[in-house]
Formats: sequence, structure tokens, C-alpha cells
Amino acid sequence: KSIGTGYASGKIILMGEHSVVYGEPAIAFPFSGTGIQATIRANKLESWIESSFFHGPLSKAPNTMRNVTILLWQLVKYFKIPEPFYLKIESSIPAERGMGSSAAVAVAITRAVFDWMEEPMTQKKVLHFVNQAETVAHGNPSGIDATTISGTEPILYQKGIGFQSFQLNMDAFLVVADTGIKGQTRKAVRDIAQLMELRPYETNKQMQTLGKLTTQAQQAVLQNQPHILGDCMNQAQGLLRLLGTSNRQLDHLIETALENQALGAKLTGGGRGGCMIALAEDETSGRRLQQILLDAGARNTWIEGLGVYAHV
Ligand code: PMV
Repeated sequence: KSIGTGYASGKIILMGEHSVVYGEPAIAFPFSGTGIQATIRANKLESWIESSFFHGPLSKAPNTMRNVTILLWQLVKYFKIPEPFYLKIESSIPAERGMGSSAAVAVAITRAVFDWMEEPMTQKKVLHFVNQAETVAHGNPSGIDATTISGTEPILYQKGIGFQSFQLNMDAFLVVADTGIKGQTRKAVRDIAQLMELRPYETNKQMQTLGKLTTQAQQAVLQNQPHILGDCMNQAQGLLRLLGTSNRQLDHLIETALENQALGAKLTGGGRGGCMIALAEDETSGRRLQQILLDAGARNTWIEGLGVYAHV
């Protein structure tokens, strides 16, 4: 095949970020509002990367792209890819905002290479490559981003155990708002690991409570109880703030959403910047909330029906 293409969407963690690193369950789904397209083909002179954050020879890719270069190296070795190649990455996922851009870029590239090499793809095979890239990007990833993004359905994920797909079946809408500030997943995860050493009893208790809230939230989603889900989100945000993963801009957007009829609101992903999510009762109030959050300083907003996966 002369050209290989691969696409991957972003992801949203509804509940369970950070506690998922400690073995608690988390809920996440592929987020169709954003995505990454990768295209790969042979090149004449040298291997080349074309993307919005770097374009130039692969050999000169910056250290921040180590996850991509290591992934490509693995794929070259595995498939005996003929070098040089030209790789184009087009992304509408804001980087480092808790939407899983690093996992998505890895999934999109891996899918493009499988397509180019005409190799049948399974989620397991894709994950084999993506998990390695994520370890480079994140240090100690729980695996939730890679698993969510390489699949097609919402999942309940537990580190070391695996995942269970389920369908979102709720008459409610989720508004996602970007603070415009880069999140600091790696640092937030490291700081929590330190808290765990300093105050193991208290921190473990907080993780377990976050896990219980995730389980309650999943029940609420399955039973179409938006008010209960909203309540779980608010309680989770309280704990995430205590753990030091929120920040002023996230708190401001979350308070604004709650003052404007959101049923619940919290950060999503690694935190310390990045995105927040707010639960709206219907599409009209969700769209209203989007405008209010933009007026309150959000860089961008998206809206997603929580029933979109139902009965498909
Ligand atoms: O910030 P993101 O999109 O990479 O999400 C990170 C989720 C964490 O639970 C904070 C870390 C992890 O590895 O699960």
C-alpha cells in the first residue's frame, strides 16, 4: 500500500483520574469532539515528521516528542518498515489538557502503520505499542488513556485487571471546557505519590473514596440518574482538590458552572490546568453553559450527549 492512515479520538475521564493509578476503578470514554489523523508514506531523502508542534527530520525531533520517536522506532523494528518515511500528524486535540493527546497520537500513528503494512489490527496489538509510548510520555501511566482511545466504547477501567465496556445511557449532556493552561499530569501524579508516602493512611482512604464514587457514578449512568452522577462528580472534585490536582482556573470554571445550573462539575484528566467537565440536564442548558464558560475565560468548549452510545 502506498499510503497508510490512522485516526484516534481524544478521551474524557468522567470519574476516577489519579485514584486509577492506585488500582481504583475509573470511567472514561472516547471523545468524538476531538481527534488526531496520522498519514504515513515512503519518502525520498530522510524520515520526516510534519505536525503543528514540529516539522523536520525525525532525527532532529525534540525531546518532548520522545514518545513518538520511540514508538516509531519500535514500529520500524517490528514491521521492518522501509525508511525513509514521511509522517504527517494533524490534531484537533489540545495538547496536555487531560484529553489524552499523547495516547491518541500513539494510537493514530500505530493504526496508520498497520494500515500501511496491511497488517490486520486488534486492540491488543495496538495497545502493545501504545503502552510503551505512554510510559515514555507519562512515567507511570495507569493505562486508562491508551485503553480508552484504542477502543470505541465507554469503559470501566481498573489497572492490572482490565476493562469492561458499557453504554452511556443518560439523558444529560457533558460540557467540556479547556482552561487554556497546560495540565501537569506527570507532576501531579508524582506529587500524589509523595503524599502517599507522607500520609499513607489518609491518602489511601481518599483514593478508596474516589473509587467508591466512581462505582456509584457508573450505577447512576446505567440507571439514568443525572442528579446522582452530578453529586458524585462534585464529591470527587472536593477530594481531587484536597489532593492538590485542581488549580485556580479550574476552580473558577467549576464554580461558574455550578452557579449556572450544572448538576455537577469537576476537573478531568491529570489536572493542574487542562480541562474541566460539567453535567447539564439537557442540550439547551449545556449550550448555554458553554457560552457562560467561554465568557468566564475558557479557551474552548465542547458538548457531548451522554446517550450518544446508547442502542447503537
Ligand atoms: O492528563 P491525562 O489525560 O493524561 O490523564 C491522566 C489520568 C491520570 O489518572 C491522572 C494518570 C493515569 O495514568 O491514569
